[in-house]
Amino acid sequence: MKILVLGGAGYIGSHTVYRLIESGNEVVVFDNLETGHIEAVHPKAKFYKGDLRNRSEIDSVFDKEKGIDAVIHFAGYKAVGESVKKPLMYYRNNIDSTLTLCEVMNEHNVKNIVFSSSATVYGTPKSLPIKENFDVTHATNPYGETKIMIERILNDLYVSDNTWNIALLRYFNPIGAHKSGLIGENPNDIPNNLMPYIVKVANKELKELSVFGNDYDTIDGTGVRDYIHVVDLAKGHIKALNWVLNNNGIDAFNLGTGNGYSVLELVEAFKKFNNIDVPYKIVGRRDGDIASCYADASKAKDILDWSCTYNIEDMVKDSYNYVKGNK
Ligand code: NAD
Ligand code: UD1
Repeated sequence: MKILVLGGAGYIGSHTVYRLIESGNEVVVFDNLETGHIEAVHPKAKFYKGDLRNRSEIDSVFDKEKGIDAVIHFAGYKAVGESVKKPLMYYRNNIDSTLTLCEVMNEHNVKNIVFSSSATVYGTPKSLPIKENFDVTHATNPYGETKIMIERILNDLYVSDNTWNIALLRYFNPIGAHKSGLIGENPNDIPNNLMPYIVKVANKELKELSVFGNDYDTIDGTGVRDYIHVVDLAKGHIKALNWVLNNNGIDAFNLGTGNGYSVLELVEAFKKFNNIDVPYKIVGRRDGDIASCYADASKAKDILDWSCTYNIEDMVKDSYNYVKGNK
């Protein structure tokens, strides 16, 4: 199959491109390299530098690359805090670029797409574990609202033309890296997310981790999340792609392990399995955070035949292995 990967130079996209090529697919990557890195693009993938907000740039890729079977759409901004400060930038990049993409896909009669949504679409969940049929109407930040709106746009598109096939993948918290250590999470600035922060502290690039609150109603008072190995996530995209290519219409799937770990449990696992210290201090809660979030992952298992194979030891070791290699 010939697959166009938008945002394929980014963290999740680069891992998915590796998996696609390992499974024998022809891959074209389109990315503006704003947060992605050219070195993360698999050498066998064909690369186009371009911005999805610019219609002619994406249109010309479809013109040149005849025979694209499906698109995987990772391109967009993802920092929750930044989205609160710069909402217009988030709405413009995430929504505008998706509208342009869908129009261009329509014109080129490519109607198979796998979209990167997020568990953030559930806002504050009414109960746990989170199922796909929970309310998806209120996120806690503009970034999350863009994901809700894009899901709605894609749903409306399908209602208008049921020859589209669309998988909405709601990721929980991806961490880890490819076993080779060649690709991993590589934020340009001080990380917002927990695991990239932990590895920078372990690597002595940052002094200590701030743990945002220890007074939640959880096992040890710190926030609980469903951490998923990025390679398992990449494998989930291959399964979703097959589902889309088999003309299944539209549906949403949680991609998570179904297990929750607290911040301190993750820190302790990182210390133990990497045999390294991670100094931390407890500080106040971060605005917009919820106590606990983990998936009911049974729908993806039943329908996509996908489940996670990596455990927390793999996740913390592979996260650190990548950073050690790039010290
Ligand atoms: P990332 O920032 O590493 O990757 C995004 C890629 O898209 C980057 O390579 C960037 O350069 C590119 N890009 C952004 N805007 C573009 C544009 N207008 N035109 C062309 N390229 C553009 O992020 P990631 O962690 O790999 O996330 C990928 C997707 O998954 C995003 O849509 C994100 O919202 C979603 N997601 C991520 C997480 C997470 O925790 N990492 C969780 C849930 C959902
Ligand atoms: C958030 C978003 C998610 C988005 C992801 C990646 C929500 C509800 N979730 O996930 O949609 O895809 O970011 O951008 O909007 N923590 C610390 N110290 C730190 C960093 C984090 O204690 O320095 C804690 C947080 O309070 C939280 C946990 O670690 O309990 C995980 O945080 P993080 O990695 O930022 O991910 P989420 O907030 O779950």
